[in-house]
Amino acid sequence: MSQRYAKITGWGKYVPERVVTNDDLARMVDTSDEWIRTRTGIRERRLRTENDTTSSMSVAAAQQALAVAGLTPGDLDLIIVATSSPDYLLPSVASQVQDMLGARCGAFALVAGCSGWVYGLVTASQYIQSGAYNRILVVGVEIISFALDFTDRTTCVLFGDAAAATVVEASDEPGGMLSFELGSDGSGAMALYVPDGGVVSPISQRTVDERRQYLRMNGQEVFKFAVRTLSSSLKRTIYDAGLTPDDIDLFIPHQANARIIESAARQMRVPLDKFYMNLERYGNTSAASVPLALVEAVEEGRLKDGDLVAMCAFGAGLTWGTAVIQMGTGEISPAHSLFSLGRARYLARRTSDAVLDSAQSALLPLYTFWYGRRKKS
Ligand code: UT7
Repeated sequence: MSQRYAKITGWGKYVPERVVTNDDLARMVDTSDEWIRTRTGIRERRLRTENDTTSSMSVAAAQQALAVAGLTPGDLDLIIVATSSPDYLLPSVASQVQDMLGARCGAFALVAGCSGWVYGLVTASQYIQSGAYNRILVVGVEIISFALDFTDRTTCVLFGDAAAATVVEASDEPGGMLSFELGSDGSGAMALYVPDGGVVSPISQRTVDERRQYLRMNGQEVFKFAVRTLSSSLKRTIYDAGLTPDDIDLFIPHQANARIIESAARQMRVPLDKFYMNLERYGNTSAASVPLALVEAVEEGRLKDGDLVAMCAFGAGLTWGTAVIQMGTGEISPAHSLFSLGRARYLARRTSDAVLDSAQSALLPLYTFWYGRRKKS
């Protein structure tokens, strides 16, 4: 069998109509627009209306993605829905989406926190590259507001609801998925979790009294993990594709906090304007965050045929997922050929990055100490 490539050929999004600003939240909890903006970069987010469900939002985004790809639901071979906020514990929301779309194919949901859509994209590309399937719908969707405690200012200001969908198709032309990295560090599970509602601690009166059905987060732990992971995983995955950070046309990071993204750009010595951001308008939409940013980057004309894109998500688990893709059907960078100038540049940059990475790892505890002192003073 000749080599097969997995390409994103369709994209779509759905965001609820209801806009909630920082000032709106400041009327509910002890916070301010100034605090939220300066600590996170977020100005507003969308929260579901009573008509929005995880399945209905997925279907709206999927219908757009199918239209862009020029496909009908009947053309799909598989549906993957990444979410931590399904309509029901059982059945899988992916089967609801399959039925509502009118597709006739397998469907499953996956949970990898905010990294879910990247996990789904990588999974879809494996089915395609192996020859098993030709057309797969991958949705990232979240009504995370259902798990937010709107009396807890440390979490409720950060998140928003959204859905984004992509169609991944088989192609004989080089491009599409070039490299990926999926990671998990379960030792950090309690840094971002929902205490009750699972087997270990089912919902009870105590749950409700102590508000244990809501998401809890150790923000600083997750922040440190994110800063560590974003730049290092992006670099590893870019090098795996035989590219350097300079070759990447657009970085699409998880939209959790502008400070995390700025720090990654600094560590990678990449201009910040190469990092796409829309968190100002949507906040952190968890599994929908990276695909929503991808869809909007395309809609805004920030991506064209042949562009190289590096995406990285991180979140509950703790997990992370990184993928380097080439949009459309353009040729792969010259860094792939063995003795090219691109190859020499690639090797030089890879070596200097390895040295800098070691230095940064050694300095991170010092930075954390300094930042903690600065905040206290
Ligand atoms: O998808 C992955 C999920 N999550 C993330 O990526 C989040 C990663 N973490 C972060 O983005 C940041 O840690 C936060 C934005 C959550 C918090 O920023 P921070 O600079 O780490 O703040 P902090 O937790 O150190 O809190 C500083 C102060 C505290 O007050 P004291 O103890 O210094 O008096 C907090 O109680 O800010 C207070 N604070 C707030 N004040 C006003 C915490 N949340 C708020 C708030 N409004 N919403």
